[in-house]
Amino acid sequence: MNTDSRLLFTGINSGDDKSKKVIGAEGVRFQMSDGRWLIDGSNTGGALGHKHPAIVEAIRKAAEAPVVNEGWLWVDREEAARELVETAFGDDLDWVGAVRFFLSGSEANDLALSLAQSITGRQTLATRERAYHGMTGLSRDMTVQPQWHGGLSSLTGGFRPVPPSAHVVQVPGPGRYRFGETSSTPITELLSGVPEALSETAAVIVDYTQGGVYYDSDYQDELARHAKAAGALWIADEVVTGLGRNGGWFAYQNGKTKPDIVTLGKHVGGGGAPAGAVVVSRELLERMDGWTWQTYSTFRGHPLTIAAVRATIATMASTDLVNRAYAMDDLISARMAVIAAKHPSVLRIGGRGMHWTVEVQGPDWREWRGDSAVPPLATRIAARAADAGALIGTSGEQTSVFISPALVMPEGDLHSLLDALDHGLTLADEELDRNSVR
Ligand SMILES: Cc1ncc(COP(=O)(O)O)c(C=O)c1O
Repeated sequence: MNTDSRLLFTGINSGDDKSKKVIGAEGVRFQMSDGRWLIDGSNTGGALGHKHPAIVEAIRKAAEAPVVNEGWLWVDREEAARELVETAFGDDLDWVGAVRFFLSGSEANDLALSLAQSITGRQTLATRERAYHGMTGLSRDMTVQPQWHGGLSSLTGGFRPVPPSAHVVQVPGPGRYRFGETSSTPITELLSGVPEALSETAAVIVDYTQGGVYYDSDYQDELARHAKAAGALWIADEVVTGLGRNGGWFAYQNGKTKPDIVTLGKHVGGGGAPAGAVVVSRELLERMDGWTWQTYSTFRGHPLTIAAVRATIATMASTDLVNRAYAMDDLISARMAVIAAKHPSVLRIGGRGMHWTVEVQGPDWREWRGDSAVPPLATRIAARAADAGALIGTSGEQTSVFISPALVMPEGDLHSLLDALDHGLTLADEELDRNSVR
């Protein structure tokens, strides 16, 4: 047992390497304990970069706010809900109903899923394969990436998962990628088994980045149609994509159909405070008329959260960052096309706007439980990319890396980040070479 640190540590890069520590940050860069300043290329919680002046100012002021729990009506919290609705859902005012604030994306999903169970009187929940929806309660049940089983993984092999608290159905993902291996199966055929799978289901929850699976409007509309026919609610998990990352306010807006619930986290707090939100449709709000939602928590919608949310929305409204993320899709996809062609190890690349995933050849992701002290391939790719000056992310998967740069990242730094990714992938090429020689 090592007691050098008293922190019960977890890492999104598997293994037990704790050598790299962050000691500071500025703009789009982390300062590391070894003295390096690295471009921060995978920070889904920091879409405005570090120390954004509007967020810093808001958080400073919030330190003087009253200590008000969720049970008190508080004018600033009401204003935050109004601003989120009117600004972010400005194109969907006919759709949007009301907002409740939470502490994280995990909590927002957990509570949205339980709300769906209560409304429908059903227990079963559905998600698409390879999804990640969080790590608490029902959101953990719906996280079906096998390494995030919520329990203990042994550094010498083996794992102890947590028993699920709901029956979980997995529906196929769209299987269509921007570069590399992609599926040509028509969506109707792909989802042909879904009506039966959803027949006893309270809700189907879909996100737009995890496992390298991005939005696909045909897929969304077909799945939404099946959910409606089955009497299941459709929850759009926009914890990563909400407020701009995919190049629109929300990813679901790329399809024709509208969800019953949208969940938010990460960027909704601008990186300045823990934050999440559940946004229910007007139609669902009407179904809840005459009922109270009997759930409460002391620090939900805390003054720090509310200040961070309001500053984030104001910043997003007064800048062109949503359109910028849309425009950056061209820059990044042009670079990804070259990367896909150059590296024999690359299996497929998916992405939209300013979130992209590269999956390389290697062990099957379905078999991975994070139960090894040896850093997996993705972690080693990220380490080599760091040698070239940027941090890329891994989501804990063994063969996938992703980039999720701050929406404010200058083009020059974005190119440097992609250069670093390109450099990191040389390690996967070498590994592929070695394995094919054997
Ligand atoms: C799609 C998605 N949903 C939910 C979550 C959970 O959010 P949090 O980690 O803030 O609880 C994540 C986190 O990575 C996510 O990617």
